[in-house]
Amino acid sequence: MSISRKLLFTLGFACSFAPRAAEQKSISIACGAVGIEYELCKSASEAWSKTSGVPVKLVSTPNDTNQKLELFQQLLSAQSADIDVFMVDVVWPGILGQHFEDLSGYLPTAEKNAHFDNLIANDTVGGRWVALPWYVDTGVMYYRADLLKKYNLDVPQTWQELTSAAKKIQEGEKKTDSKFVGFVFQGKAYEGLTCNVLEWISSFGGTDFVDGSGKVLANNPKNIEALELAATWIGGIAPKGVLNYAEEEARGVFQSGGAAFMRNWPYAYTLLNSKNSPVLGKVGVMPTPKGGQDGRHTPVLGGWHLAVSKYSKHKPEAVSLIRYLASESVQRGRIQHGFFPTLKSLYADKKVLASSPLFGVLAKSLATAVARPSRATGAQYNRVSNEIWNTTFSILSGKEKAEDGLKALDKKLVRVSRGGKWN
Ligand code: GLC
Repeated sequence: MSISRKLLFTLGFACSFAPRAAEQKSISIACGAVGIEYELCKSASEAWSKTSGVPVKLVSTPNDTNQKLELFQQLLSAQSADIDVFMVDVVWPGILGQHFEDLSGYLPTAEKNAHFDNLIANDTVGGRWVALPWYVDTGVMYYRADLLKKYNLDVPQTWQELTSAAKKIQEGEKKTDSKFVGFVFQGKAYEGLTCNVLEWISSFGGTDFVDGSGKVLANNPKNIEALELAATWIGGIAPKGVLNYAEEEARGVFQSGGAAFMRNWPYAYTLLNSKNSPVLGKVGVMPTPKGGQDGRHTPVLGGWHLAVSKYSKHKPEAVSLIRYLASESVQRGRIQHGFFPTLKSLYADKKVLASSPLFGVLAKSLATAVARPSRATGAQYNRVSNEIWNTTFSILSGKEKAEDGLKALDKKLVRVSRGGKWN
Protein backbone atom coordinates (compact mmCIF):
# COMPACT_ATOMS: atom_id res chain seq x y z
CA MET A 1 0.00 0.00 0.00
CA SER A 2 1.39 3.40 -0.94
CA ILE A 3 2.22 5.93 1.75
CA SER A 4 -0.59 8.24 0.72
CA ARG A 5 -3.10 5.37 0.85
CA LYS A 6 -1.79 4.45 4.32
CA LEU A 7 -2.13 8.06 5.40
CA LEU A 8 -5.64 8.27 4.06
CA PHE A 9 -6.65 5.20 5.95
CA THR A 10 -5.08 6.17 9.22
CA LEU A 11 -6.32 9.75 9.03
CA GLY A 12 -9.80 8.46 8.64
CA PHE A 13 -9.85 5.96 11.49
CA ALA A 14 -13.37 6.99 12.31
CA CYS A 15 -14.45 7.67 8.77
CA SER A 16 -16.60 5.77 6.41
CA PHE A 17 -13.77 4.17 4.43
CA ALA A 18 -12.62 2.18 7.43
CA PRO A 19 -12.92 -1.53 6.62
CA ARG A 20 -16.05 -3.36 7.63
CA ALA A 21 -16.04 -6.46 9.78
CA ALA A 22 -17.07 -8.41 6.71
CA GLU A 23 -13.46 -8.24 5.54
CA GLN A 24 -12.70 -10.44 8.55
CA LYS A 25 -9.82 -8.35 9.67
CA SER A 26 -9.16 -8.12 13.34
CA ILE A 27 -6.53 -6.45 15.44
CA SER A 28 -4.82 -7.88 18.51
CA ILE A 29 -3.42 -5.48 21.04
CA ALA A 30 -1.20 -6.34 23.99
CA CYS A 31 -2.03 -3.86 26.76
CA GLY A 32 -0.93 -3.76 30.37
CA ALA A 33 -3.05 -4.97 33.27
CA VAL A 34 -1.66 -3.07 36.25
CA GLY A 35 -4.52 -1.49 38.24
CA ILE A 36 -7.30 -0.65 35.81
CA GLU A 37 -5.08 -0.39 32.74
CA TYR A 38 -6.68 -3.38 31.07
CA GLU A 39 -10.24 -2.07 31.45
CA LEU A 40 -9.26 1.34 30.10
CA CYS A 41 -7.46 -0.17 27.13
CA LYS A 42 -10.43 -2.42 26.45
CA SER A 43 -13.05 0.30 26.51
CA ALA A 44 -11.02 2.63 24.28
CA SER A 45 -10.16 -0.16 21.84
CA GLU A 46 -13.81 -1.16 21.67
CA ALA A 47 -14.82 2.42 20.96
CA TRP A 48 -12.39 2.42 18.02
CA SER A 49 -13.72 -0.93 16.92
CA LYS A 50 -17.26 0.40 16.84
CA THR A 51 -16.41 3.25 14.49
CA SER A 52 -13.92 1.36 12.33
CA GLY A 53 -15.88 -1.87 12.14
CA VAL A 54 -12.69 -3.82 12.83
CA PRO A 55 -12.91 -6.24 15.76
CA VAL A 56 -10.21 -5.88 18.43
CA LYS A 57 -8.84 -8.62 20.62
CA LEU A 58 -7.02 -7.77 23.85
CA VAL A 59 -4.13 -10.03 24.71
CA SER A 60 -3.27 -10.24 28.39
CA THR A 61 0.37 -9.99 29.34
CA PRO A 62 2.36 -10.41 32.57
CA ASN A 63 2.40 -7.43 34.92
CA ASP A 64 6.18 -7.14 35.38
CA THR A 65 7.60 -5.06 32.63
CA ASN A 66 10.62 -7.31 32.04
CA GLN A 67 8.45 -10.43 31.85
CA LYS A 68 6.36 -8.61 29.27
CA LEU A 69 9.54 -7.76 27.41
CA GLU A 70 10.62 -11.40 27.37
CA LEU A 71 7.29 -12.45 25.89
CA PHE A 72 7.35 -9.71 23.28
CA GLN A 73 10.94 -10.54 22.34
CA GLN A 74 9.96 -14.17 21.75
CA LEU A 75 6.97 -13.24 19.61
CA LEU A 76 8.81 -10.62 17.62
CA SER A 77 11.95 -12.61 16.98
CA ALA A 78 9.72 -15.40 15.66
CA GLN A 79 8.17 -12.70 13.40
CA SER A 80 4.77 -13.72 14.70
CA ALA A 81 1.76 -11.90 13.29
CA ASP A 82 -0.31 -12.78 16.38
CA ILE A 83 -0.06 -9.34 17.94
CA ASP A 84 -0.51 -6.24 15.81
CA VAL A 85 -0.17 -3.54 18.45
CA PHE A 86 2.27 -3.58 21.35
CA MET A 87 2.20 -1.36 24.39
CA VAL A 88 5.88 -0.64 24.96
CA ASP A 89 7.73 0.63 27.99
CA VAL A 90 9.56 3.93 27.50
CA VAL A 91 12.87 2.04 27.93
CA TRP A 92 12.26 -0.45 25.10
CA PRO A 93 12.48 1.35 21.74
CA GLY A 94 16.21 0.62 21.52
CA ILE A 95 15.57 -3.05 22.30
CA LEU A 96 12.52 -3.76 20.13
CA GLY A 97 12.49 -0.90 17.62
CA GLN A 98 13.76 -3.01 14.73
CA HIS A 99 10.55 -5.07 14.88
CA PHE A 100 8.21 -2.08 14.65
CA GLU A 101 6.87 -0.12 11.71
CA ASP A 102 8.31 3.32 11.03
CA LEU A 103 5.33 5.53 11.79
CA SER A 104 6.66 8.38 9.64
CA GLY A 105 5.17 6.66 6.62
CA TYR A 106 1.71 6.74 8.16
CA LEU A 107 1.28 9.85 10.30
CA PRO A 108 1.54 13.51 9.37
CA THR A 109 4.48 15.39 10.92
CA ALA A 110 2.14 17.72 12.79
CA GLU A 111 0.77 14.76 14.69
CA LYS A 112 4.26 13.69 15.67
CA ASN A 113 5.14 17.23 16.78
CA ALA A 114 2.09 17.37 19.01
CA HIS A 115 3.89 15.10 21.51
CA PHE A 116 6.75 16.22 23.75
CA ASP A 117 9.97 16.34 21.74
CA ASN A 118 11.95 14.27 24.22
CA LEU A 119 9.39 11.46 23.98
CA ILE A 120 9.58 11.46 20.20
CA ALA A 121 13.39 11.48 20.45
CA ASN A 122 13.10 8.53 22.81
CA ASP A 123 11.00 6.67 20.24
CA THR A 124 13.26 7.42 17.29
CA VAL A 125 15.84 4.70 16.78
CA GLY A 126 18.37 4.92 13.96
CA GLY A 127 16.21 7.56 12.28
CA ARG A 128 13.06 5.41 12.44
CA TRP A 129 10.04 6.57 14.48
CA VAL A 130 8.98 3.32 16.09
CA ALA A 131 6.39 4.19 18.75
CA LEU A 132 3.64 6.69 19.46
CA PRO A 133 3.75 8.18 22.99
CA TRP A 134 0.69 7.27 25.05
CA TYR A 135 1.26 8.28 28.65
CA VAL A 136 3.99 9.46 31.00
CA ASP A 137 4.47 8.77 34.67
CA THR A 138 7.10 9.23 37.36
CA GLY A 139 7.69 7.62 40.71
CA VAL A 140 5.69 9.31 43.48
CA MET A 141 5.56 8.92 47.26
CA TYR A 142 2.19 8.23 48.85
CA TYR A 143 1.76 8.84 52.56
CA ARG A 144 -0.96 8.42 55.14
CA ALA A 145 -1.77 12.04 55.94
CA ASP A 146 -4.01 10.95 58.84
CA LEU A 147 -1.19 9.03 60.50
CA LEU A 148 1.35 11.82 60.07
CA LYS A 149 -1.15 14.02 61.87
CA LYS A 150 -1.82 11.43 64.57
CA TYR A 151 1.91 11.16 65.35
CA ASN A 152 2.47 14.89 64.99
CA LEU A 153 4.87 14.54 62.08
CA ASP A 154 5.53 16.78 59.07
CA VAL A 155 5.47 15.36 55.57
CA PRO A 156 9.05 14.09 55.23
CA GLN A 157 11.14 15.75 52.51
CA THR A 158 14.20 13.51 52.70
CA TRP A 159 14.69 9.74 52.77
CA GLN A 160 16.23 10.11 56.24
CA GLU A 161 13.14 11.95 57.53
CA LEU A 162 10.92 9.35 55.88
CA THR A 163 12.89 6.60 57.60
CA SER A 164 12.36 8.08 61.05
CA ALA A 165 8.71 9.02 60.44
CA ALA A 166 7.97 5.51 59.17
CA LYS A 167 9.68 4.03 62.22
CA LYS A 168 7.67 6.13 64.64
CA ILE A 169 4.34 5.38 62.95
CA GLN A 170 5.17 1.69 62.63
CA GLU A 171 6.04 1.39 66.33
CA GLY A 172 2.80 3.11 67.30
CA GLU A 173 0.49 1.26 64.92
CA LYS A 174 2.00 -2.14 65.63
CA LYS A 175 0.47 -1.96 69.11
CA THR A 176 -2.96 -2.53 67.57
CA ASP A 177 -2.02 -4.01 64.20
CA SER A 178 0.94 -6.37 64.48
CA LYS A 179 1.40 -6.51 60.69
CA PHE A 180 1.56 -2.76 60.17
CA VAL A 181 4.69 -1.54 58.35
CA GLY A 182 6.28 1.83 57.77
CA PHE A 183 7.19 1.71 54.09
CA VAL A 184 6.49 -0.40 51.01
CA PHE A 185 8.05 -0.11 47.57
CA GLN A 186 9.06 -2.33 44.64
CA GLY A 187 11.88 -4.48 46.01
CA LYS A 188 11.55 -7.55 43.82
CA ALA A 189 14.43 -8.32 41.42
CA TYR A 190 12.91 -6.73 38.29
CA GLU A 191 12.66 -3.49 36.33
CA GLY A 192 10.70 -1.76 39.08
CA LEU A 193 13.65 -2.15 41.47
CA THR A 194 15.93 -0.47 38.92
CA CYS A 195 13.51 2.48 38.99
CA ASN A 196 13.53 2.61 42.80
CA VAL A 197 17.31 2.41 43.17
CA LEU A 198 17.87 5.14 40.58
CA GLU A 199 15.58 7.39 42.60
CA TRP A 200 17.65 6.73 45.73
CA ILE A 201 21.10 7.24 44.26
CA SER A 202 20.23 10.26 42.13
CA SER A 203 18.47 11.95 45.03
CA PHE A 204 21.67 11.65 47.08
CA GLY A 205 23.65 13.33 44.28
CA GLY A 206 25.25 10.06 43.28
CA THR A 207 26.28 9.02 39.79
CA ASP A 208 23.87 7.29 37.44
CA PHE A 209 25.04 3.72 36.95
CA VAL A 210 25.48 4.55 33.29
CA ASP A 211 25.38 8.22 32.29
CA GLY A 212 23.90 9.82 29.17
CA SER A 213 27.11 9.31 27.23
CA GLY A 214 27.28 5.63 28.12
CA LYS A 215 29.97 5.96 30.79
CA VAL A 216 29.73 3.44 33.63
CA LEU A 217 30.08 4.76 37.15
CA ALA A 218 28.22 2.69 39.71
CA ASN A 219 30.67 2.82 42.57
CA ASN A 220 30.44 6.27 44.10
CA PRO A 221 30.34 7.30 47.81
CA LYS A 222 26.86 8.85 47.43
CA ASN A 223 25.53 5.69 45.76
CA ILE A 224 26.94 3.66 48.64
CA GLU A 225 25.35 6.00 51.19
CA ALA A 226 21.95 5.72 49.48
CA LEU A 227 22.09 1.94 49.27
CA GLU A 228 23.31 1.56 52.85
CA LEU A 229 20.28 3.49 54.05
CA ALA A 230 17.94 1.46 51.83
CA ALA A 231 19.39 -1.80 53.18
CA THR A 232 18.41 -0.75 56.73
CA TRP A 233 14.76 -0.60 55.61
CA ILE A 234 14.46 -4.33 55.00
CA GLY A 235 13.10 -5.94 58.15
CA GLY A 236 13.16 -2.43 59.70
CA ILE A 237 10.54 -0.02 58.35
CA ALA A 238 9.78 -2.34 55.41
CA PRO A 239 8.72 -5.96 55.71
CA LYS A 240 11.18 -8.59 54.46
CA GLY A 241 8.47 -9.56 52.00
CA VAL A 242 9.02 -6.24 50.16
CA LEU A 243 11.77 -8.12 48.32
CA ASN A 244 8.93 -9.89 46.50
CA TYR A 245 6.83 -6.82 45.82
CA ALA A 246 6.12 -5.28 42.44
CA GLU A 247 3.69 -2.38 42.01
CA GLU A 248 0.48 -4.23 42.77
CA GLU A 249 1.79 -6.06 45.86
CA ALA A 250 2.91 -2.75 47.34
CA ARG A 251 -0.45 -1.19 46.52
CA GLY A 252 -2.27 -4.15 48.08
CA VAL A 253 -0.57 -3.56 51.45
CA PHE A 254 -0.89 0.22 51.39
CA GLN A 255 -4.48 0.28 50.15
CA SER A 256 -5.62 -2.14 52.85
CA GLY A 257 -4.30 0.32 55.41
CA GLY A 258 -1.20 -1.69 56.31
CA ALA A 259 1.56 0.82 55.60
CA ALA A 260 2.41 4.46 56.29
CA PHE A 261 4.34 5.21 53.06
CA MET A 262 4.39 3.73 49.59
CA ARG A 263 6.54 4.47 46.58
CA ASN A 264 4.54 3.78 43.43
CA TRP A 265 3.33 5.36 40.17
CA PRO A 266 0.40 7.79 39.66
CA TYR A 267 -1.98 5.01 38.54
CA ALA A 268 -2.40 4.03 42.20
CA TYR A 269 -3.92 7.35 43.24
CA THR A 270 -7.44 6.87 41.88
CA LEU A 271 -7.55 3.30 43.15
CA LEU A 272 -6.46 4.35 46.64
CA ASN A 273 -9.28 6.88 46.61
CA SER A 274 -11.92 4.61 45.10
CA LYS A 275 -15.26 4.13 46.84
CA ASN A 276 -14.44 0.96 48.76
CA SER A 277 -10.82 1.73 49.51
CA PRO A 278 -10.00 1.51 53.22
CA VAL A 279 -7.64 4.49 52.82
CA LEU A 280 -10.09 6.69 50.90
CA GLY A 281 -9.43 10.35 51.72
CA LYS A 282 -6.47 9.53 53.99
CA VAL A 283 -3.68 9.61 51.42
CA GLY A 284 -1.31 12.40 50.50
CA VAL A 285 1.14 12.33 47.61
CA MET A 286 4.46 14.06 46.91
CA PRO A 287 7.48 13.67 44.64
CA THR A 288 9.92 11.00 45.85
CA PRO A 289 12.13 12.39 48.68
CA LYS A 290 15.56 14.04 48.51
CA GLY A 291 18.69 12.26 49.71
CA GLY A 292 19.35 14.59 52.64
CA GLN A 293 18.98 18.38 52.89
CA ASP A 294 21.40 18.94 49.99
CA GLY A 295 19.82 16.23 47.89
CA ARG A 296 17.26 16.53 45.10
CA HIS A 297 13.86 15.10 44.33
CA THR A 298 14.67 12.72 41.49
CA PRO A 299 11.71 10.55 40.58
CA VAL A 300 12.29 8.15 37.72
CA LEU A 301 10.59 8.79 34.41
CA GLY A 302 8.32 6.03 33.20
CA GLY A 303 5.54 5.62 30.71
CA TRP A 304 4.21 3.51 27.90
CA HIS A 305 3.95 4.00 24.17
CA LEU A 306 2.23 2.20 21.32
CA ALA A 307 3.92 0.42 18.43
CA VAL A 308 2.80 -1.51 15.37
CA SER A 309 4.48 -4.79 14.58
CA LYS A 310 6.35 -5.10 11.29
CA TYR A 311 4.87 -8.57 11.05
CA SER A 312 1.25 -7.44 11.40
CA LYS A 313 -1.00 -8.39 8.52
CA HIS A 314 -3.19 -5.36 9.14
CA LYS A 315 -0.80 -2.48 9.55
CA PRO A 316 -2.99 0.43 8.41
CA GLU A 317 -5.76 -0.71 10.76
CA ALA A 318 -3.24 -1.16 13.59
CA VAL A 319 -1.90 2.36 13.00
CA SER A 320 -5.44 3.66 13.01
CA LEU A 321 -6.04 2.05 16.39
CA ILE A 322 -2.92 3.51 18.00
CA ARG A 323 -3.73 6.95 16.60
CA TYR A 324 -7.11 6.74 18.24
CA LEU A 325 -5.71 5.51 21.57
CA ALA A 326 -3.12 8.30 21.67
CA SER A 327 -5.59 10.96 20.51
CA GLU A 328 -6.37 14.01 22.60
CA SER A 329 -9.81 12.83 23.66
CA VAL A 330 -8.62 9.42 24.86
CA GLN A 331 -5.56 10.88 26.62
CA ARG A 332 -7.81 13.46 28.27
CA GLY A 333 -10.15 10.77 29.58
CA ARG A 334 -7.29 8.77 31.10
CA ILE A 335 -5.93 11.65 33.22
CA GLN A 336 -8.41 11.06 36.04
CA HIS A 337 -6.99 7.52 36.33
CA GLY A 338 -3.40 8.77 36.75
CA PHE A 339 -2.23 8.20 33.17
CA PHE A 340 -0.73 11.53 32.16
CA PRO A 341 -0.74 12.88 28.61
CA THR A 342 2.12 12.99 26.17
CA LEU A 343 0.43 15.73 24.12
CA LYS A 344 1.68 19.25 24.75
CA SER A 345 -1.77 20.78 24.13
CA LEU A 346 -3.29 19.10 27.18
CA TYR A 347 -0.75 20.72 29.50
CA ALA A 348 -1.75 24.14 28.21
CA ASP A 349 -5.41 23.55 29.02
CA LYS A 350 -6.27 25.02 32.44
CA LYS A 351 -9.38 22.85 32.80
CA VAL A 352 -7.27 19.75 32.26
CA LEU A 353 -4.68 20.90 34.80
CA ALA A 354 -7.39 21.43 37.38
CA SER A 355 -8.98 18.05 36.68
CA SER A 356 -6.55 15.93 38.67
CA PRO A 357 -5.14 16.62 42.12
CA LEU A 358 -2.05 14.73 41.00
CA PHE A 359 -1.18 17.10 38.17
CA GLY A 360 0.77 19.48 40.43
CA VAL A 361 2.85 16.66 41.90
CA LEU A 362 3.47 15.21 38.46
CA ALA A 363 4.53 18.59 37.02
CA LYS A 364 7.00 19.04 39.90
CA SER A 365 8.23 15.50 39.48
CA LEU A 366 8.68 15.82 35.73
CA ALA A 367 10.79 18.95 36.21
CA THR A 368 13.54 17.03 38.02
CA ALA A 369 12.86 13.46 36.90
CA VAL A 370 15.71 11.17 35.90
CA ALA A 371 15.65 8.86 32.92
CA ARG A 372 16.92 5.30 32.96
CA PRO A 373 20.01 4.77 30.80
CA SER A 374 18.07 3.22 27.92
CA ARG A 375 19.09 5.76 25.27
CA ALA A 376 22.81 5.37 25.87
CA THR A 377 22.70 1.59 26.17
CA GLY A 378 20.15 0.91 23.41
CA ALA A 379 19.65 -2.76 22.68
CA GLN A 380 21.69 -3.66 25.80
CA TYR A 381 19.39 -1.83 28.20
CA ASN A 382 17.68 -4.90 29.57
CA ARG A 383 21.02 -6.55 30.38
CA VAL A 384 22.15 -3.34 32.10
CA SER A 385 18.97 -3.13 34.12
CA ASN A 386 19.26 -6.81 34.99
CA GLU A 387 22.69 -6.23 36.51
CA ILE A 388 21.41 -3.15 38.37
CA TRP A 389 18.39 -4.87 39.90
CA ASN A 390 20.33 -8.03 40.79
CA THR A 391 23.06 -6.06 42.57
CA THR A 392 20.50 -3.91 44.38
CA PHE A 393 18.51 -6.97 45.39
CA SER A 394 21.60 -8.65 46.76
CA ILE A 395 22.54 -5.54 48.79
CA LEU A 396 19.00 -5.17 50.14
CA SER A 397 18.87 -8.83 51.11
CA GLY A 398 22.10 -8.42 53.08
CA LYS A 399 24.05 -10.84 50.88
CA GLU A 400 26.51 -8.17 49.85
CA LYS A 401 27.79 -4.88 51.30
CA ALA A 402 26.78 -1.82 49.26
CA GLU A 403 30.39 -0.93 48.48
CA ASP A 404 31.32 -4.44 47.32
CA GLY A 405 28.16 -4.82 45.29
CA LEU A 406 28.65 -1.50 43.51
CA LYS A 407 32.32 -2.19 42.83
CA ALA A 408 31.38 -5.50 41.22
CA LEU A 409 28.51 -3.83 39.34
CA ASP A 410 30.97 -1.42 37.70
CA LYS A 411 32.89 -4.36 36.28
CA LYS A 412 29.75 -6.18 35.15
CA LEU A 413 28.39 -3.12 33.37
CA VAL A 414 31.70 -2.43 31.64
CA ARG A 415 31.61 -6.03 30.42
CA VAL A 416 28.05 -5.61 29.08
CA SER A 417 29.11 -2.38 27.37
CA ARG A 418 31.76 -4.16 25.30
CA GLY A 419 34.36 -1.56 26.13
CA GLY A 420 31.94 1.35 26.24
CA LYS A 421 30.58 0.81 22.71
CA TRP A 422 27.25 -0.57 23.88
CA ASN A 423 25.72 -1.58 20.58
C1 GLC B 1 5.79 1.65 35.30
C2 GLC B 1 6.52 2.63 34.38
C3 GLC B 1 7.48 1.91 33.49
C4 GLC B 1 8.43 1.08 34.34
C5 GLC B 1 7.66 0.12 35.22
C6 GLC B 1 8.60 -0.63 36.16
O1 GLC B 1 4.95 0.87 34.55
O2 GLC B 1 5.59 3.35 33.60
O3 GLC B 1 8.20 2.82 32.68
O4 GLC B 1 9.37 0.38 33.58
O5 GLC B 1 6.70 0.80 35.98
O6 GLC B 1 7.93 -1.56 36.92
